[in-house]
Amino acid sequence: MRAHEAGALHAEGYGGPPIWLPYPRDVMELLPQLWPETVCRDAVGRLVIGGVDVVSLASEFGTAAYVLDETDFRARARAFRDAFADSFTGGADVYYAGKAFLCTEVARWVAEEGLNLDVCTGGELAVAIRAGFPGKRIALHGNNKSSSEIRRALEYGVGRIVLDSFDEIVRVDTIARELGVVAPVMIRVTVGVEAHTHEYIATAHEDQKFGFSLADGVAREAADRVVAHPDTMSLKGFHSHIGSQIFDTTGFELAARRLVQLHADVVNATGADLPEIDLGGGYGIAYTSQHTPLAPGQLAEQLADIVEREFKAIGTGDGTATPRVSIEPGRAIAGPAGVTLYEVGTIKDVGLGEGFARRYVSVDGGMSDNIRPALYEADYSVTLGSRSSDAAPRLARVVGRHCESGDIVVLDEYLPDDLAIGDLLVVPGTGAYCRSMSNQYNHTPRPPVIAVRDGQARVLVRRETIDDLLALDVG
Ligand code: LLP
Repeated sequence: MRAHEAGALHAEGYGGPPIWLPYPRDVMELLPQLWPETVCRDAVGRLVIGGVDVVSLASEFGTAAYVLDETDFRARARAFRDAFADSFTGGADVYYAGKAFLCTEVARWVAEEGLNLDVCTGGELAVAIRAGFPGKRIALHGNNKSSSEIRRALEYGVGRIVLDSFDEIVRVDTIARELGVVAPVMIRVTVGVEAHTHEYIATAHEDQKFGFSLADGVAREAADRVVAHPDTMSLKGFHSHIGSQIFDTTGFELAARRLVQLHADVVNATGADLPEIDLGGGYGIAYTSQHTPLAPGQLAEQLADIVEREFKAIGTGDGTATPRVSIEPGRAIAGPAGVTLYEVGTIKDVGLGEGFARRYVSVDGGMSDNIRPALYEADYSVTLGSRSSDAAPRLARVVGRHCESGDIVVLDEYLPDDLAIGDLLVVPGTGAYCRSMSNQYNHTPRPPVIAVRDGQARVLVRRETIDDLLALDVG
């Protein structure tokens, strides 16, 4: 690394594009795996989503803006529902993981498409309740649920509370006793799998906060404690979630095998009837051309094969049938259905020495509407959305407007060399974990969420205003 009077030099020289990013034949081409099904370009090159072009969307709703393609979201939800129902002989339920993105209208879409809902806070539960989501089809997650969250969930009649600690077993037992109900519960198990994903979103290795460990017998102990309180808790089965943005099915396979083994051990040892087993979510999506996700059908078949094979191999002493399987995809339903629109504000070619320069394109958003590049070094793709261009591809870095050099929207992407101030850029794959993890860094009001469908656009979540931000400041 070259020396610099202010210390080591970052971004040494010009690294060029990453190996997975080929020089495009056509810089305006849309890779179908990155975009909602309805996306295309119109005769003048404008990107059209849900039948509405992005120039009209930007002029009506402003930028930055999240745009959610309702048709695409519903189709992905249905694809999971149907694929899992078809592949698992004992039946299967799909819980949409609301943490990916949730608002009342989306909760209604999920209910209408016949999916269940995974919530992990009182806030997400409140959205579900406001949407009228049927209680029986809700699962409550979380590693530190408060007493009031547990109480609210039991009062609303949720279908399952996924237990995460011994303290919580005591808490649920106490609250269920007070309310005079039997709480349907599952036990979250740490299956000891090293999921191949970013460390911050891997959740099944031993040294992290979630679940009861299988390896040291704590998961069995949790089951025994729950089964000892049949008047307040009814154990539905075990749950495992190994992490997020995972492509390699061997992690899911290993987790399923271990979970089935535990299930059989507990059924055989206690005679308990455990009617369910939950394999969690975490199915990866394509953010760039380097990602190749499995279709829900392939995924369902592979998981069904594993679960059925394992149950056959292990069996349960009393011949108990294979339990009903559930999964919890969030990103794979919401992620590809959403895009973010930004307007280009400045373009700066920054010299890196030896004749090299990097093009920095600043947009009117950034780490407040998408923290994932800064948090997980997540890669995204981006395209010019407001017009056509015949200009040559030029490698660029799209950055936000925040006071932070790590405020990167897209680290590397080819954009037309004639990109200009006022052009609209569109980032695909932002339907999951962007609005839901958004923040108001630098007092930046959060963008709206606009749903598009059949040529119509409507606001699902309105744009935040400076007045909204100031309203919290009581000083
Ligand atoms: N079930 C449980 C218990 C979970 O903890 C999660 C995600 C899911 C299901 C859904 O996972 P998905 O299918 O969406 O990958 N904020 C991160 C991901 C962390 C997700 C945490 N739990 C991100 O932006 O990538």
